[in-house]
Formats: sequence, C-alpha cells, structure tokens
Amino acid sequence: MNESRSAEHVRAALAGAVSLRDLERLAERVVDDPAWQYLMGGSDDEITLGENRRAFERLRFRPRVLRDVSTIDTKTVVLGQELAMPVLVAPMAYHRLYHPEGEPAVARATARAGGLFVASTMASTPLEEVPSQCPRWFQVYVYRDREITRDLVLRAKAAGFSALVLTVDAPRLGKREREARIGFGLPAGIRAANFAVDQSDLRLKEAGTSSIAHHASKAFDATLGWESVAWLAELSQLPVIVKGILTEEDARLAVDAGAKGIIVSNHGGRQLDGSPATIDCVEEVAKAASGRVEVLMDGGVRRGSDIVKALALGARAVLVGRPFLHGLAVGGDEGVLRVFDLLKDELETTMALLGRTTLAEIDGSVLKC
Ligand code: FNR
Ligand code: LAC
Repeated sequence: MNESRSAEHVRAALAGAVSLRDLERLAERVVDDPAWQYLMGGSDDEITLGENRRAFERLRFRPRVLRDVSTIDTKTVVLGQELAMPVLVAPMAYHRLYHPEGEPAVARATARAGGLFVASTMASTPLEEVPSQCPRWFQVYVYRDREITRDLVLRAKAAGFSALVLTVDAPRLGKREREARIGFGLPAGIRAANFAVDQSDLRLKEAGTSSIAHHASKAFDATLGWESVAWLAELSQLPVIVKGILTEEDARLAVDAGAKGIIVSNHGGRQLDGSPATIDCVEEVAKAASGRVEVLMDGGVRRGSDIVKALALGARAVLVGRPFLHGLAVGGDEGVLRVFDLLKDELETTMALLGRTTLAEIDGSVLKC
C-alpha cells in the first residue's frame, strides 16, 4: 500500500470510530500482544479495573429542560492553566510501544486540542523532547537513589514543565498477572529514555515475571513519606500534585503536606486490587479538600458523560489514560486528537441534554442519588 492510500485508510478508520470503545477495538488489531497485555491489564483479579467502569455506569442524571442550550462552553482553568475542556492525558509509561512517534505525537495532539499532557518518569522519550507548545506536567516516581529523582526534577523544571505529579500508590507495582504470564519485558528499541543507565533488567523476558514490576520494586523508594511533598516543592519551586489518593484521611494529609492538587486515582486498577472505583471516592476526597486544593480524578473515563459525573461529585477535571494510547496506535497525532474530539463532542451533548451550558453549572444537582 502506498503512503497516501494508507493515510486515507487511517483517516477513514478514525472517522468511522464513533466512540472510545470503537477506537479500542481498532487498536487491538494493530498493537502486538505483549504491549496490548501491558496496556490493558490490571492487578490480581482485575476487580478494581472493572469496577472503575461499572461505578460510572451505575450513576444516573437529573436533566433539566426548556433552557437555552444553543451555546455550550467547556472551557476551564486547572491549576492556573486554561484548557479547552477538562481533560488531561494521564501519565503513562512507554508510549513508543504503541507508535514510533510516541510521547511527542501525543503531546502535539494534546496542544491542538487544548488539553494538558502529563509525562511519565518512565516515558520512552526524554522529557526535553516533549514539545514545549503543549501545557505539560511531569510525573515523579521517587527512586531509592534520591540523586536520580533530584536530577530528573531539575531537568523537568529547566525544560519548562509547570507542575510535578507525585505518584503515591506505587511503593512497588501491583501483581500484573497478564504481564507475568507472558514474561513481559521491553522490546528492542524501546527504553526508559529519561535515564542513561543500563536497562537490561527492563528487557528480560522470563515467564512468571514482569520485568517492569521487577525494576520498580528494585528502584522505587518504598520508605517514602509525606515529607517528600515539601522536598519536591522546595527542590523545584513548582506546585506538587499528589496522584493516588482514595480516602479523606490521606486527602487531609496531602493538603497539610503542601500539595496544590490531588488526583483521585487507583492507577487504572493496576495497583491494589479491591480498591474502590475512583468515581466512588471523588466526593469524599473533594469534601475533605474543601476547596483548599483542586481535586482531579482518573480511572475508567470513557465518555463525555463520565466527565460530567466526575465534575458533579467535585472534580475540577479528569485524566484519561488507555484511550489516548489506543488513538495513538491507530492514527498517531490524528488518533489522539480523535479521542479529544469524541470526548468534547459527548461532553457538549451531555451538557445540552442536562440543561447546563457551562462547567460551573455542573454540581451535585445533576445527579440522582
Ligand atoms: C499507567 N499509569 C501510570 N501512572 C503513573 O503515575 N506513572 C506511570 O508511569 C504510569 N504508567 C502507566 C502505564 C500504562 C500502560 C497504564 C495503562 C497506566 C496510570 C495512569 O496514569 C492512570 O492512573 C490510569 O491509566 C487511568 O485509568 P484509565 O483512564 O486508563 O482507565
Ligand atoms: C505502570 C507503571 C509503570 O502502571 O506506573 O505500568
């Protein structure tokens, strides 16, 4: 197939994908099996992974009618950053497993859509190569060797990232059985590109072990405590957002520790299996934060209506994970943009049918409980 025909083919496939679920089905056909298992898997019995979706599906709306909904505005501001819609790209490792252009393609499309990109410590592109036209935050895993983290954080600051996202739900990785079963390791040509060190441990393919999980357990600092929030804030002079909070107790501790934002997250069902769905924790965390810091959430957001549900329960915005890598795999920049476009379109339709024209009008009254 020549290049223009294949571009045409991709365009047609993207146009025909009318939901994130459709894009997922297309992605499954083009992503090789080990990378697919790494992307889609959760931990243990994947109860939490499934619950993230089921909990959204249980919520019901209270629509209001006969209001002028001819113009719908989805604009918002998240930690001082203006966005076209309340959607951020969740930090995810190794985008190049899904498309040769990896993280830069996702960030370029995010900039075009008016979203915000969160780069992972475990990205497959060095943080300096994430295009600067895209609003971007840097996700931090704290290493036992604090010098490694110090160096990364200072590089992120120098490269113009505007906030740090400290992931706190992964002192070690959850038991990802799909990865272990196939002995998942990074293929040739893909690396944790923020690090110069030897990465042979990430490449091991040995049935019964995930080399990603093995690496994390060896490298991440499992002694980490709340003082790390102030350490990162002082070091970088950037706002620190804590990702992976599910309880009011930890929400209060995060605020007391100096966090400027909280992301309600169970890591997409990849860490503690048996954790509740994140949408079921948003209200509790938002109440505890009581407006002192902004609360975001991620996990299972697949529809514009899910975004409305999250905002109704107290979130300022949502992060979306896997669907962006589905879009990337199917169509590079254009595939990622398709995910944003579908979510925006669905968000606008949900708002119109609920009788709400701005995000500020979305509160608890839109939900039946
Ligand atoms: C992740 N996630 C993640 N989180 C993080 O803080 N640092 C990371 O490097 C990664 N890596 C990663 C890789 C892959 C393949 C996935 C699927 C997820 C978790 C991610 O940020 C987010 O919390 C969830 O993906 C959100 O759930 P959904 O939208 O995928 O259901
Ligand atoms: C993951 C890591 C690396 O979820 O956060 O795979």
